[in-house]
Amino acid sequence: LENELLSVTCTAPVNIALIKYWGKRDEEKILPLNPSLSITLDVDDLRTKTTVVASKHFDRDRLWLNGKEHDISSKRMQTCITKLRQGAGDLRSDDGTLLIAKEEWKHYRFHIISENNFPTAAGLASSASGLACFVYSISQLLCFKETFPGELTTIARQGSGSACRSLLGGFVLWECGIAPDGTDSIAKQMDTGDKWKHLRIVILIVNDQQKKTSSTAGMQTSVQTSDLLKFRSKEVVPVQLSRMRDAIKEEDFTTLATITMQESNQFHACCLDTFPPIFYLTDVSKEIIQFVHDYNAKCGGTFVAYTFDAGPNAVLLTQDENLDKLVASLYQRFGFFPVTREGVTSSVCESPQSD
Ligand code: PMV
Repeated sequence: LENELLSVTCTAPVNIALIKYWGKRDEEKILPLNPSLSITLDVDDLRTKTTVVASKHFDRDRLWLNGKEHDISSKRMQTCITKLRQGAGDLRSDDGTLLIAKEEWKHYRFHIISENNFPTAAGLASSASGLACFVYSISQLLCFKETFPGELTTIARQGSGSACRSLLGGFVLWECGIAPDGTDSIAKQMDTGDKWKHLRIVILIVNDQQKKTSSTAGMQTSVQTSDLLKFRSKEVVPVQLSRMRDAIKEEDFTTLATITMQESNQFHACCLDTFPPIFYLTDVSKEIIQFVHDYNAKCGGTFVAYTFDAGPNAVLLTQDENLDKLVASLYQRFGFFPVTREGVTSSVCESPQSD
């Protein structure tokens, strides 16, 4: 193997938070102020694909994102690489022959080529899929062995908080944890059996430009200045999370949809309560919010929910039986949006694919 190039290619999907993560209690280890809950989108339209090539002859680690070389010396990426190297295992052939002993990996450097097939840093969770894919593909190449369940999610978390949730499919809970070293702040898949097969997601791209305030910078100012954020993480999230978990268990769309909208609104209220304020929603985003409330009122129930992350683009949740009607109404109201409408993972444990 002296002159061989070793390579692994993986894909990882984005996830959309229904209970939002906003604010860290430990900046260094990326420990959140509150637990969060998301849904992983099991679609090919929104994913990161990463190829990692390892060689003893590369002089340093390098990273290309969407065809452009990026600095890989950021503390977060270096933390992930160091932790993955620490947990590296032996590489063996199918018949068990030792090809690379774990101590040998320290002589290898990586070239990492990553691409998103959707707008990067536009509030569509590109850092979640990107860092999940980064961590997962290197872990595959290094034959990484977890020393405790969920360890890989703690590494992805240190790349970008929400990335820990993109390592798993379906509904995923990122636990806040209490341990100072962060080993219990892991992501876990919720077991939903064969429920939620009819859940559908519609994504409305309002603006695909990069956001002005990164989530890292935005969270820091919010933690420093927003009283609403303090109140929310202590008093509101625990109650909403417990109600959301019950709604997921019972396949109760109305409750899930209601909490999802309230959560999105409170997150953006915290952004407004931040000083100076952060505006992620645009007038079009607000029109979408109004549209959803009008639509539900007209239909006499809660058939659609919206949620917005750190950007103006809307993620709508609905159920299969309502999808065609909703899409028709959206076209009627907004004319032309590039609309993606796809299914969402149900309960099946879907790790990112590797080949
Ligand atoms: O993981 P980050 O640093 O990109 O932060 C994500 C923050 C939100 O998308 C707004 C909420 C969330 O829980 O994903």
